[in-house]
Amino acid sequence: MKKTILVTGGTGYIGSHTAVALIDEGYDVVIVDNLSNSKMEVLDGIEKITGIRPRFEQLDLVYSERVDAFFKSYAKISAVIHFAASKAVGESVSNPLKYYQNNLGTLVNVLQGMEKYDISNIVFSSSCTVYGQSDILPVTENTPIKEAMSPYGNTKQICEEILRDTVAANEKLSCVALRYFNPVGAHASALIGELPLGVPDNLVPFITQTAMGIREKLRVFGDDYNTPDGSCVRDYINVVDLAKAHVVSINRMINNQNKKHMEIFNLGTGNGVSVLEMIKTFEKVTGQALNYEIVARRAGDIEQVWADTSFANNELGWKTEANLEDTLLSAWNWEKHIRGKKS
Ligand code: UD1
Repeated sequence: MKKTILVTGGTGYIGSHTAVALIDEGYDVVIVDNLSNSKMEVLDGIEKITGIRPRFEQLDLVYSERVDAFFKSYAKISAVIHFAASKAVGESVSNPLKYYQNNLGTLVNVLQGMEKYDISNIVFSSSCTVYGQSDILPVTENTPIKEAMSPYGNTKQICEEILRDTVAANEKLSCVALRYFNPVGAHASALIGELPLGVPDNLVPFITQTAMGIREKLRVFGDDYNTPDGSCVRDYINVVDLAKAHVVSINRMINNQNKKHMEIFNLGTGNGVSVLEMIKTFEKVTGQALNYEIVARRAGDIEQVWADTSFANNELGWKTEANLEDTLLSAWNWEKHIRGKKS
């Protein structure tokens, strides 16, 4: 009998790749999403890749009675992966209450449903944003958490605290919190990928849309940072590799291999790459010249961050496989797919 995994935010970017990885592993997947930042057609992509269409409920997890009714109707859920959240840093500064309501409220409702309906395992979608600009690089899971740089970042910190306290109070509950660095790329089939609605905030969709001619030019936010080429440095992790870490985390909890009720892992490659290096690599692998200009720094950006991945590598037995070239090519193939262009 297949075990059922609830994936909240499962039509989103990381959620959809994780749904595919779970189905590939033999799990039964139920997706809940309010479609505020994703489209129903993502289910077609998942079905084309896996041959299975996951069950889907359009539901906003902010409404506690509806969440309760959902859990009541799906009696047998073995674990939850909670992706559903708002994630635009800039928007969180201008509309913080949206972020506190969506990101904290939905987690509380999900945890209450899990307690009431006896579901023991949750994987939480956290972020390297919790470290802020660390004084020490690379960052390990024990690197001190700094004051958040945005309401979005603050919600990720508070969510981890909510989970820690809830797990401490309920010995049946286990949590794996995964701190993602910068997820990029798309499934190799080019049938699912990142689908930003409107002007993208993130670097890679902006690069691919510029190469496609949808945006006139990419603006590189600052070349006067204290980094080798002056542009910001991040740890860009392939989204399929990232998705697989969720499956490993689910297996770990379902098989009772977790060592603590609350575990936290960094998910990155361990390599820092600058914005200018991203542009060069994209140009090299796609043969597309990218129109870009250097502009002023973006408010709230940290200078550099990359992961120490040794704990995740050793403890989860997981590591990234894709290289940056293949990852950027997959992002470009996905962009061509959504614009209806042949490779
Ligand atoms: C941030 C958070 C990450 C979060 C994500 C959600 C940190 C370190 N990271 O990612 O945890 O999940 O937001 O969206 O807090 N850039 C340009 N031009 C552009 C767009 C981006 O130069 O048009 C640069 C940025 O200055 C940055 C890099 O590209 O240096 C990556 O930016 P982005 O993709 O937005 O991700 P982060 O801000 O690192």
